[in-house]
Amino acid sequence: GMMNEISGINVMEKSVKDLLQIKDVIIVPGNSDDSPWVKEELGRAAIQSMKKRVTDHTIIAVTGGTTMSSAARMLTPDFAGRDILFVPARGGIGEDVHNQANTICATMAQRSGAKHRVLYVPDQVSREVYDSIMKEPGIKEVMALITSANIVLHSIGDAAAMAKRRNTSEEDMEKILAGEAVGEAFGYYFNVNGKIVHKVKTVGLQLKDLASIPNIYAVAGGSSKANAIQAYFKGAPQSSSILITDEGAAKELLKGT
Ligand code: BG6
Repeated sequence: GMMNEISGINVMEKSVKDLLQIKDVIIVPGNSDDSPWVKEELGRAAIQSMKKRVTDHTIIAVTGGTTMSSAARMLTPDFAGRDILFVPARGGIGEDVHNQANTICATMAQRSGAKHRVLYVPDQVSREVYDSIMKEPGIKEVMALITSANIVLHSIGDAAAMAKRRNTSEEDMEKILAGEAVGEAFGYYFNVNGKIVHKVKTVGLQLKDLASIPNIYAVAGGSSKANAIQAYFKGAPQSSSILITDEGAAKELLKGT
């Protein structure tokens, strides 16, 4: 019955939290690999939880992807007049415009009545071009806002799927394959032991910056993402992370325990 289902989920939340050693875990019913609406529920749960931690002047950094794009659709105009700012967590990482952090953060701001800033930085540029872009006052200003974010909203991707979807060069593709990457977040690719085997060179949040951010929401579901989730938390342990996932991923994560 209903009560058993609820307590079953609570037990799973506690087990996943212990396994990954993170601040909190929220599990929504279903498996987003099989049912597209489960991804919407992930987005809804993430936004509901995040909203409780938003105060006036909060800066929220977001990554791209289809999960974040579903989360964006769950925002309602609660942030108007409160000086809330959305910024992209990282510059361009070769994604299609709909999946880009810049696009998603603009949608989130528009739907919630907040402001946003963008960070347009091409990926495959020479060292010289990259260094001079980094000296631009406008870029520096957005960078400062990003590193002082109070909340980060991000997803975790399957490494192979992400490498394929992005504009990944042949050389980088080989690195990702040879390194046996399974998970990806913020442009970092992790193997099963959590080792970083490749990193997309772009400006914005670096993994080490997460240490000073009090609330980090990782939103990722579907049984196919279980290995990716585990690899990410092995490689980038975050005691301030809250994982929003689904039963499909949670069951798969707990199989080995
Ligand atoms: C990307 C993020 O845009 O979305 C990645 O930058 C993340 O870090 C990915 O892994 C996840 O995508 P999706 O479509 O599976 O939500």
